[in-house]
Formats: sequence, structure tokens, C-alpha cells
Amino acid sequence: MKVCVIGTGYVGLVTGVCLAEIGHDVICVDKDEKKISSLKKGIIPIYEEGLEELVKSNFEKKSLVFDSGTSSGIEKSDIIFICVGTPPLPSGKPDLTAIDDVARMIGQSLNGYKIILNKSTVPIGTAKRIRKIIKENQENGYEFDIVSNPEFLKEGEAVKDAFFPERIVIGSESEKAVKIMKELYDPLIKQDFKYASGNSNKKEEVPILITDSTSSELIKYASNAFLATKISFVNEVANICERIGANILDVTYGMGLDSRIGSRFMKAGIGWGGSCFPKDVRALSYTAEEYGSNASILNAVIHVNNQQRFKIVQKAVDLLGIIDDKVIGVLGLSFKPNTDDTREAPSITVINKFLELGAEVRVYDPVVKENPENLDKGAVFVEDPYKAVENANLLVLVTEWEEFSKLDFDRIKDLMSAHNIIDGRNFLDKKALKDMGFKYMGIGN
Ligand code: UGA
Repeated sequence: MKVCVIGTGYVGLVTGVCLAEIGHDVICVDKDEKKISSLKKGIIPIYEEGLEELVKSNFEKKSLVFDSGTSSGIEKSDIIFICVGTPPLPSGKPDLTAIDDVARMIGQSLNGYKIILNKSTVPIGTAKRIRKIIKENQENGYEFDIVSNPEFLKEGEAVKDAFFPERIVIGSESEKAVKIMKELYDPLIKQDFKYASGNSNKKEEVPILITDSTSSELIKYASNAFLATKISFVNEVANICERIGANILDVTYGMGLDSRIGSRFMKAGIGWGGSCFPKDVRALSYTAEEYGSNASILNAVIHVNNQQRFKIVQKAVDLLGIIDDKVIGVLGLSFKPNTDDTREAPSITVINKFLELGAEVRVYDPVVKENPENLDKGAVFVEDPYKAVENANLLVLVTEWEEFSKLDFDRIKDLMSAHNIIDGRNFLDKKALKDMGFKYMGIGN
């Protein structure tokens, strides 16, 4: 099938390459001409394992084409994927400017029946909004259908999640569109494509759920909100553990053995961040309020998460007293490992607070090498973890990068001026560190 993917961000690029790889002709368009010319040269703006090779091979096969002409991309295709950004406004409501612009352009470019599919995470009711805008801007009477098809990709595992999804959700009021969507995704549903053969992640078959567009939109928000709730819940239990002398690692292990609870997304720490959970939980709470429904759980989930970051600062004060002039080495910065994304990363709040209190902060992250925009100026970025802890009064781990499990703590002990460790992800070997003479503080551990 001929598919146009509008937006070559993280979702659009991964979706485009996946559709090309399973046998479709894909045009990825973006109004950012610089981005398109880089992509044509094989320069990928984001790091995702396996993505670069897949983009290159499909580009060479011409199953994946990059273009800056959105209208011509729409005209040449049967299915249009909308994969543009919906950043949060200060109120928590997502900004739909990019979606509206694209819908207008689609209206003006319709030259036959097309399916307009939304993959961006959009407020409930956006499928209907897109339909209305297209209709208002249509210069002819061509038929079209709207489909909501949310994405469930995780940063750092996006390629795997795209090819081997746990479910495909199709929300549409049109039987014709649903039939076409089933054909489009047939190789993915049956896991019958070259990249899957011999891949350890291959599934028997991928479940597909057909529903109305509003329910589909809510599945996306409710899934992210549920996962965020699970983490905030566990963090609250971790805080109780600290008060009563229990250990969160044992508690979550014991809870997770109950298959109704499960062991995933049960890691206590300094809280969730990134470009999805914070935005989506706020947006769902906003929608609930807009429609007169009470979002007290969601609001509590956000509150617990905002507080959780400050646990690190409280612990630092407990260990060091006055923070002014103290040297603090921070390991990690990205909101989770295997990504350079620092959007709404808990580390940012923690470091900003340390800086505000007058600490000298040295940061080492395996991939984030410069001061991100959301981090106040003043932290020193160093090239290796040992430089971060030289003469430090405190080491704080905020992101559980795999390489931190291999650190030489004998060397670290020699380098530090006081032997304090706060492990914001319960990632290090508490017993070994205590045996070495470190003062170790985890989260509920
Ligand atoms: C999340 C969802 O997991 C994806 O299914 C969804 O498609 C995506 O948002 C999206 O809406 O685009 P992502 O933001 O990449 O994916 O990150 P996660 O791996 O879910 O982690 C989110 C945050 O939760 C991170 O800050 C992580 O450190 C934290 N976390 C995760 C915990 O604190 N504890 C855990 O047990 C798990």
C-alpha cells in the first residue's frame, strides 16, 4: 500500500521504517527541510537501536522516501499517518497546532478516498476534530475516513516495540477503513516479514483490537497513566518502607509474584519523567476535569511524583547538612537509560535544587554531554564518572545506565572526600558498598 507519514520525529520515523520493512511504499514527510536533507544522507536525528540500518536499507530499496512536500506526499498515498508533536501547554492541555495545520493541508490535498490515521497522542475527541477540519478545508467531495491508531513505543526500545507490539489498537467508525487497516498490518499481525524471521522477539501473533475512535484514544492515555500510577504507588510504598524499616526490593518482589500485579514497572526510585508520562497524565487529568469527572487518583499520582524527586535533596541534607560549597557528583542525567532525552527528567529538578543551594555539581552521563536547556547553568559536565566524584562529598546516582554497574568503587572511595552515596534507582550493590565503608542511601532500601 502507499503510505504517507507526516512528521519524522521519533514516532514518525520508527513507524515509517516499520511500514516500509513489512512491505509498503512509504513517503516520510516533514516541513523541516534540513531534517529531510539530513535523512536523505542517512543522518538520523535520534538514537534508537537498529534504526539507522533499517532506515538506510529501506531508503536504498526505495521503499522509504523522504520529502519536504507534505501536499504531494498526501496526494501520492492511500493512507496518511499523522505523527506530529502535541507538546503540553502550561495548563496541561496538549497544543494541537501541528495537528490542526496538518488536517487543513490534508483537506486541501485530498484527491481520492484516503484513510487519515492519527498516531500522535492526542486529546480524547481529536479524531472528530480532524474530521471537522478536513471537511471545512476540502475543495471537493472525496470520501475519507479517520482512524485512531495509538503508538505504544518506548524510547530506547522503539524498533523492537514497533515490529513486535503487544497489541494493535484501531479506533474507527468506518468498516471500510478497519478492513484496509487490517490488510495494512497483516504482516505485523501474523509476524510474517523478513526482519521477524529468526528474531528472538518474534511473537506468535499480535492481538488487534477494533474499537470506536474515542475509546482508542483513551486506551493510550489510560495505559500511560496506569503505568505512571504503578510507579507512584510503589514510590509511596518505598517511602513507607523507610519509615518502618522494610525493604522495598523485597516488598515489590513479593507483590510482583502475584500475576495480577506483575513484576514490571515496579521499580522504586526518584520518579518518572520523559516526554510521555508527565504530559499524558496531566492531559488525562485535564480532560477529566473538562468533562466534569473527578481525577483525584491522577492528581495524586502527579503529586507523589513531583515530591519524589525532592527525596534525594532531603537525603543529601540528612547526610551533609548545609549543602553550600559541598561537591556533589551526579551519575546520569537522561530520564532513563539508553536515551539522550532529558525532558522532564527527575535529575534536572534534583541538580537545579543542588545548584540553588550552592553546591558544586559535577555531572557524568554516558550520552548527554552538554547542559540541556531545562538545566540551570552551573553544573560541570565531565567526561568520565571518576572525574565526577573527585573530592566529592556525595555521589548521587539518578539514572541506572548499565555501565554504572561496573564502576570501580575502590577507586571511587579513594577519590571522594567523604564516602556518601545516594542511589536514586536502587541500582548499586548496597551490601557491598556498605561493607566497603560507604554510607549508602537508596529509596526505600
Ligand atoms: C512510555 C510507555 O512505557 C510507552 O508504552 C509509551 O508508548 C510511551 O511512554 C509514549 O507514550 O510514547 P517512555 O516514556 O519511553 O515510554 O519510558 P518508560 O520506559 O515507560 O519510562 C518512563 C519513566 O518511568 C522513566 O522515567 C523511568 O525511569 C520510570 N520508571 C519506569 C520507573 O521509575 N520505574 C519503573 O519500574 C519503570
